[in-house]
Amino acid sequence: HLPDGGGNTLKALKYKGRLWPAFAPESIRGVETFKSRDGDAIVVAYPKSGTHWVWEMTRLLQAGKTDVPMIEKDDGMIEDVLPEKLESQSSPRALNTHAHFELMPKEVLNKKNCKLIYVTRDPRDVAVSYFNHHRKLVQYYEYKGQWKDYFPLYLSGKVDYESWFAYTRGWEQGIKDNPDLQVHVTSYEALHENTNEEVKKLAQFLGASTDETFISDVVKMTSFDSMKVSKGKNETFKGKDQTEAPIMYRKGKVGDWKNWFTVAQSEQFNAVFDREMVGTMAFELYSH
Ligand code: A3P
Repeated sequence: HLPDGGGNTLKALKYKGRLWPAFAPESIRGVETFKSRDGDAIVVAYPKSGTHWVWEMTRLLQAGKTDVPMIEKDDGMIEDVLPEKLESQSSPRALNTHAHFELMPKEVLNKKNCKLIYVTRDPRDVAVSYFNHHRKLVQYYEYKGQWKDYFPLYLSGKVDYESWFAYTRGWEQGIKDNPDLQVHVTSYEALHENTNEEVKKLAQFLGASTDETFISDVVKMTSFDSMKVSKGKNETFKGKDQTEAPIMYRKGKVGDWKNWFTVAQSEQFNAVFDREMVGTMAFELYSH
């Protein structure tokens, strides 16, 4: 139970000194023993960076059609799915993980046979999105705090998956140090601004069809409004927690942080951001 600034706590699971969500420990342990396969596509992103969005795009692009059946909510998240269930999925698999670079399955980093899609997002929008995630997904986090008290928790990385700053630096460095990894880099903001182009680039990376009609169908199927409806209606998705769909599809905008951050919080955030991120790609993207 991680204490915030206002007397509330956020529940997380500590495994080998690192903070994970309170998933089944055997699933989290499975990250270390995960067996990668040729053709696997793995969306890698800090929580709330658009993981579900890009994962859905990836699934449809891989399938080469948009009328693929909805999968169960958790079926692709490496640390939230039992290893035998991941094993039983047919290839090519579309998976996702929020693991830090150094915690990625060894096979993925050694065999280099998976396609990795790295998604980044403005850390201020991530903060707001993560706060809403934490306070709404009561069954995992038991969190009842307010934004003003959550803010320092996020800033100091005392949340599941820990610090956005460390996560982002780690992935950027990992990608730089391993030029033979197959990685496609994109951002939530680029996906918003130029969805068609970004989906096409993703299709090229995955070796999928770039047919104009197909790409525009994928864009339509993965729009915020259509995912909110299709995922929200999915009984399996809702089964685990009736409140989950509205959290995963909360607002879907760029810059919502401006409605939440006070001037003081903004200044505090900028000071940490500048100190932690100078010299990174994220600094170029998100410096104020
Ligand atoms: P907000 O809370 O800012 O609305 P993740 O999938 O990594 O948990 O990210 C969740 C964030 O992505 C949420 O942000 C959610 O609304 C947004 N999102 C989910 N699906 C989206 C879509 N199809 N288009 C745009 N944003 C989407």
